[in-house]
Amino acid sequence: MVVPFFLHDLGQAELDAIAAVFAGPMLTTGETVDLFESRFAGYLGCRHVVGLTSCTGALHLAMLALGIRPGDEVITTPMTFAATATAILEAGAKPVFVDVDQHTGLIDVDRIEAAITQRTRMILPVHLYGQMCDMRAIRSIAGRHGLRVVEDAAHCIEGTRDGVRPGELSDAACFSFYATKNITCGEGGALATNSAELAAKVRLLRLHGMTKTASDRAREGYAHWDLAVLGWKYNMDNIQAAMLLPQMDRLEANWHKRSQLAQHYEEMLTSIRGIARPRTVTAARHAWHLFPIWVAAERRDELISRLQAKGIGAVVNYRPVHLLTLFRQECGHREGDFPHAERIGACTLSLPFYPRMPLDHVDQVIKALQDSLV
Ligand SMILES: Cc1ncc(COP(=O)(O)O)c(C=O)c1O
Repeated sequence: MVVPFFLHDLGQAELDAIAAVFAGPMLTTGETVDLFESRFAGYLGCRHVVGLTSCTGALHLAMLALGIRPGDEVITTPMTFAATATAILEAGAKPVFVDVDQHTGLIDVDRIEAAITQRTRMILPVHLYGQMCDMRAIRSIAGRHGLRVVEDAAHCIEGTRDGVRPGELSDAACFSFYATKNITCGEGGALATNSAELAAKVRLLRLHGMTKTASDRAREGYAHWDLAVLGWKYNMDNIQAAMLLPQMDRLEANWHKRSQLAQHYEEMLTSIRGIARPRTVTAARHAWHLFPIWVAAERRDELISRLQAKGIGAVVNYRPVHLLTLFRQECGHREGDFPHAERIGACTLSLPFYPRMPLDHVDQVIKALQDSLV
């Protein structure tokens, strides 16, 4: 690959942090996870963070802990990664999709109220590509209808909108530390909340429902434990937390690098006809997770192949979830149900975008795009 789609920027600091965990007795959830949780909570300005093994797990546990049950409906967007919607199914509930704003790809808040029924219990907005949804509007709809709100902030550690951060106006925000995310430990996730009660429930649910953990044993000696509730196995371990901690030191610097790349891409793209971009919301700080462009739908797949042939990585984020086989079958969806999400899904492709990417690689990507579009 001349310019791969993604490269992580992990190095000696992460290796040293992992070595420090190896030197101790506790590989599983323990003090390093505690440290990461408080560091991440401090960054977000949120009271509690619970370290988990994925964002999917965080969404699943958030719903269980907030009392989502079979038969409940959860409103979300079809323009997201499948895990947003599969987590709703895992909790036993039904995803109810609401079409997105045609300019941003974010859930169209003006359509949410029409989708609320007697069974609706929660709104699950997704801060797509790193751009936050209108959380003030979503909060007020939820308040009027007595609904819970959980944010899928897998793309949005560093973002804000109208001065609001993920986790600030909702019951919880869920984050991903998957291999290509803004900070990563290969696989990992976290839930952030200002509710001590919710955090305690999720802590219990992340480790089988056990009332004592290995870390408690290491600190206090063995004590019999009980199983209070049916939990899952989603606990972040010390090795994952060790990898994440040094990245917190680079979080803002890496955000600056990605915003410079985005600015350069946007300047260079003005020279190519027939390419559009999702609109950037004013009064928002974009977390700059992905850099998608929109091209003519009939040319999109061929363009990806041409870019790949020239050694430029490109992927699709996302084809709309409601048209994936599982959701066609589970929810009876078909083409035409959510036209804006479908149009974006047909014309979007994401370009290489990561802090280690040199600015002049943007020029190479642009040149490859120009050559591929003639
Ligand atoms: C928007 C969104 N939600 C949820 C997830 C799931 O994250 P994880 O892989 O940590 O479960 C992803 C991962 O790519 C994502 O992009």
